[in-house]
Amino acid sequence: MSRQQEKFNFAELKGRVAVITGAGNFGIGWGLAKHSALNLRMHVALIDLHEATVERAAAELRAMAPDLNILALACDVTNSADLIRALNQIDDAFADTSIGAVFANAGVLFNSSILKSDIEDWEATLNVNVLGVVKTIKAFVPKLQAQTQKSIFCTTASVGGLVRGDGGAAAYQASKHAVVALTESLSFEIAKKSPQVHVRVLCPCIVSTSLMQSSQLIKSAKNAPAGGNLEPIKPNEMVLGMTPERHAEQVFDLISDGKFYLVTDNVKPYVDHNLPFAAMDIIAERFANLKELQLDNSDAFATPAAGYPSAILKGPMFQGGTTFSNGD
Ligand SMILES: NC(=O)c1ccc[n+]([C@@H]2O[C@H](COP(=O)([O-])OP(=O)(O)OC[C@H]3O[C@@H](n4cnc5c(N)ncnc54)[C@H](O)[C@@H]3O)[C@@H](O)[C@H]2O)c1
Repeated sequence: MSRQQEKFNFAELKGRVAVITGAGNFGIGWGLAKHSALNLRMHVALIDLHEATVERAAAELRAMAPDLNILALACDVTNSADLIRALNQIDDAFADTSIGAVFANAGVLFNSSILKSDIEDWEATLNVNVLGVVKTIKAFVPKLQAQTQKSIFCTTASVGGLVRGDGGAAAYQASKHAVVALTESLSFEIAKKSPQVHVRVLCPCIVSTSLMQSSQLIKSAKNAPAGGNLEPIKPNEMVLGMTPERHAEQVFDLISDGKFYLVTDNVKPYVDHNLPFAAMDIIAERFANLKELQLDNSDAFATPAAGYPSAILKGPMFQGGTTFSNGD
């Protein structure tokens, strides 16, 4: 194992800057931003597509941490020039402070099978979820490499990027498999040259966020420029989901432990119930099948608890027809 995968002492992050894309809608990015500010005492640059969205989230964080510098940046992660502009704005705002962590977290989800999907949804998914991450790497990793201090560069994939293809979110899962692979590649690329940059891939299970609504909103406002006036969407709390805040605790616990694959399952102490997603079992099942060179598609014949044939929504969280969202 290289130095990249050492344990991380968060005292080294205090007073430095955390940069988080997709932080405007009070989801996973917001949880990471809040934890970075309130628990690690980091300054934070929140990035999201629309100015009103990200400004609102930043204002809430400023009220919680008035002694920290909280920056709101409207930026489209599919646009390299926007990302470079964001980096320059961060440099200007935090001239004497280095970047301690970057989370390439922005994403979209259009839940649909391959045959019923619109190609536009595939294009949007691959553009934001894959190329958006690649462009964020290209904009921010050279900056981290130029710093001598330790830092974290973490992409957000999904547990869907580690398990076999699902019955209903083909584009999303394909994009998240790509994020896992490209983050592994990044780790290899810079391990020797820049061991001070700790590369990580976040693979969440179920977090209470408004991902589907925020994706639809972005889709319907396609022609609204970044910096437009979309209001943020506060997520409904899901019955068995993790809150973004408790999810962030798990993320930082895994980082502190030196883990590369940050698989954040719905387990205690991050939830108050005993119905995990059981990610590691479902990941292991895929690899057991791979060893036999077989695809076990028996779930396609089962009566699904979660509403459609799913190779992945089948752990204890979904038994007995459990719905996991208050909104369903
Ligand atoms: N919620 C879950 O259970 C879950 C599980 C696994 C992975 N994820 C991943 O977590 C990440 C965050 O999602 P979330 O669930 O917190 O939902 P969210 O809606 O709070 O976050 C996604 C954010 O990305 C932003 N975004 C979309 N396109 C953008 C663009 N082009 N430029 C800048 N920002 C853009 C959206 O405005 C939104 O704020 C996503 O990558 C998602 O795929 C979520």
